[in-house]
Amino acid sequence: MEQLFEELSQSIRAHAGDSPVLLLISGGVDSTVAGAVLLKALKSEQIHLMYMDTGLMRKNETELVRASLEKLGAKNIHIIMCEHEFLSALKGITEPEEKRRIIGDLFITIQEREVVHLGLPENYFLAQGTIRADVIESGQAGKADIIKSHHNVASPLVNAKRKAGKIIEPLARLYKDEVRKLGRYLGVDEEIVGRHPFPGPGLAVRILGEVTREKCDILREADSIYIEELKRRRSRAGKSLYEEIWQAFTVLLPVRSTGVAGNGANSVRKYDWVLALRAINSADGMTAEVYPFETRDLLEISACITSSVKEIGRVTFDISNKPPATIEWE
Ligand code: XMP
Repeated sequence: MEQLFEELSQSIRAHAGDSPVLLLISGGVDSTVAGAVLLKALKSEQIHLMYMDTGLMRKNETELVRASLEKLGAKNIHIIMCEHEFLSALKGITEPEEKRRIIGDLFITIQEREVVHLGLPENYFLAQGTIRADVIESGQAGKADIIKSHHNVASPLVNAKRKAGKIIEPLARLYKDEVRKLGRYLGVDEEIVGRHPFPGPGLAVRILGEVTREKCDILREADSIYIEELKRRRSRAGKSLYEEIWQAFTVLLPVRSTGVAGNGANSVRKYDWVLALRAINSADGMTAEVYPFETRDLLEISACITSSVKEIGRVTFDISNKPPATIEWE
């Protein structure tokens, strides 16, 4: 890692010199580690970190991102609050690819507007936390849209900067586990470095059907209970289940199912949302195997969720590998 970091910093310094560098941060492992590399390789005053809170983020995500970046010495953190814009644009939209397109386009529109607000000089560099799997899945080989329209590695701004030779992608040759090792070496918080992957369109692709603020809040709450339970529970090998699993998350299904509240003569019928739990192991996200939970863990986690999140009446577990199913549900 020491050698890798030395090589990366030399090439970044040679490339960017004293020019300002703008890094688009998503809150995930990759862009935060890319931020750590830049902050350590260049002067922190030179680095501008831009993060959009789309309202489609996990619980407390924005606070966590801000605190981790400050800890890494970031001086210029630009947090753009744009929940309202995203939720308004998604109103009434149920088709998965349409949601992805709207979110991708809005990211670009807001990004361009906010970059102008920053007033950086013309010669600024643009950095991104692209990793090897993004390059492959976005199909520089040309197959991208057959898979999914994800990984927006090629916005007009990115294309223009790439053409001008002003793009920095320090992690483009690395696999996820190497990115994590590098992050640990550079002192990125374990809470970020050990974090499971999170898709760019965020909770929007985990809320099947229409995305609303209310559903985002329900899913955020259920997801954080699931993740806390995985962090608290140990596997037979003594690791936390969270560490043992490559990616785990919850999905809110677009159906309400029947349930009962109370018991005996006082019981009432109600119709609450259905939640699916996903937990998979994978090397790089290209293929995935369902994590074989102990039954007791699943039963207890389900009870924790339904007892805390009153809008959820039923919990199911997704037992499909990739292929045929993708990791995300949309
Ligand atoms: P799928 O669902 O395609 O996911 O099997 C493979 C991995 O990629 C993540 N994923 C995304 N990441 N933008 C991202 O940055 C996206 O639009 C996106 N969609 C899926 C997914 O969470 C999994 O780790």
